[in-house]
Amino acid sequence: MGVHEKARIGSQGKAMTVEDMTGQLRERLGRVLPEFEIRRKAEIAVEILEWKRRRNAVILAHNYMEPALFYSVPDHRGDSLDLSRKAAATQADVIVFCGVRFMAETAKILNPERTVLVPSPRAGCSLAESITAEQVRDLRRRFPGVPVVSYVNTYAEVKAESDICCTSGNARAVIESLGAPTVIFLPDQYLAANVARETGRHIIFPSATPVADPSGLLDVQILGWTGRCEVHERFTVADIENARRQFPDVVVLAHPECSPDVVAAADFSGSTNAMIRYVAEHPAPRYLVLTECSMGDNITAAHPDREMVRMCSIRCPHMNEITMEDTLAALKLMRYEVDVPEPVRSRARRAVERMLAVG
Ligand code: 13P
Ligand code: SF4
Repeated sequence: MGVHEKARIGSQGKAMTVEDMTGQLRERLGRVLPEFEIRRKAEIAVEILEWKRRRNAVILAHNYMEPALFYSVPDHRGDSLDLSRKAAATQADVIVFCGVRFMAETAKILNPERTVLVPSPRAGCSLAESITAEQVRDLRRRFPGVPVVSYVNTYAEVKAESDICCTSGNARAVIESLGAPTVIFLPDQYLAANVARETGRHIIFPSATPVADPSGLLDVQILGWTGRCEVHERFTVADIENARRQFPDVVVLAHPECSPDVVAAADFSGSTNAMIRYVAEHPAPRYLVLTECSMGDNITAAHPDREMVRMCSIRCPHMNEITMEDTLAALKLMRYEVDVPEPVRSRARRAVERMLAVG
């Protein structure tokens, strides 16, 4: 019996056939995918599960993964915070991270002895690209003693220069855990501004506004950076107004990487997990979810009675690099391995573990 006919699900040892997987995917996606597509995805999924078993691997998948991948092969699905926690707890030999590079790097930072694979070498992130370790060192020289909080959407070298990391799910708690009058918050301009507004803190951006007199910092509680997510920065208040005109009952959810104006015009803002939870707990006829479009597909698959108003012309090109085919190739060929050399890894680990301890 070949891989296409029968495979096993990881450590649970439970047999999974193409028929089983086709049924599982049909249940979730039968309303939106044609049968031949479901069957094809089921074949690939069963092959992935077989390779996952052979490699003693675990698959972690971000909420932005395409629905057929999202609902078939992952051991864990979630937002950045959730997946960091799962990465920290895994006992598998191999971690396949269906997400972007900085997420896979975080898994490697926490698991130096395990092999971490990311299915595409091109899965970057505009936020992670927006700041270098040297720029963080420069900020530290300019603002001595001010703690540095880095969004996990950064590369390991930047995490290594930071006191603590945060995600969109815990940014406020992390800042408050420091008990410091002023923090440097990197690199997302909009997330920083949204947290500043939520906590009533005054924010400035020293890279955009020169700080001539450090005593003028007395009433500044957040020093930000001007990085942006190339996806979330494109959503506008006009998009929300147009959607509300056309669908007066629409509930608007915005990721905090959107601009403060967009977040203010939305009904709810939170991490990808928080938005998924919001839909589950607040039934409404339709939602506009201002984040990567695949997540809307995944929510619809879980809640067939709720409609998602689509804005799929705005996509994350990096997350969309990760396909089922490449996930299979990653396990078969053991590619693309993520490495974080010492001493950067240990220094970055301190910042990530400090975040995980915040709870
Ligand atoms: P979450 O941590 O909310 O999943 O966000 C990650 C991300 O990259 C959003 O664009
Ligand atoms: Fe980075 Fe934005 Fe893509 Fe998230 S959606 S991975 S922040 S570019």
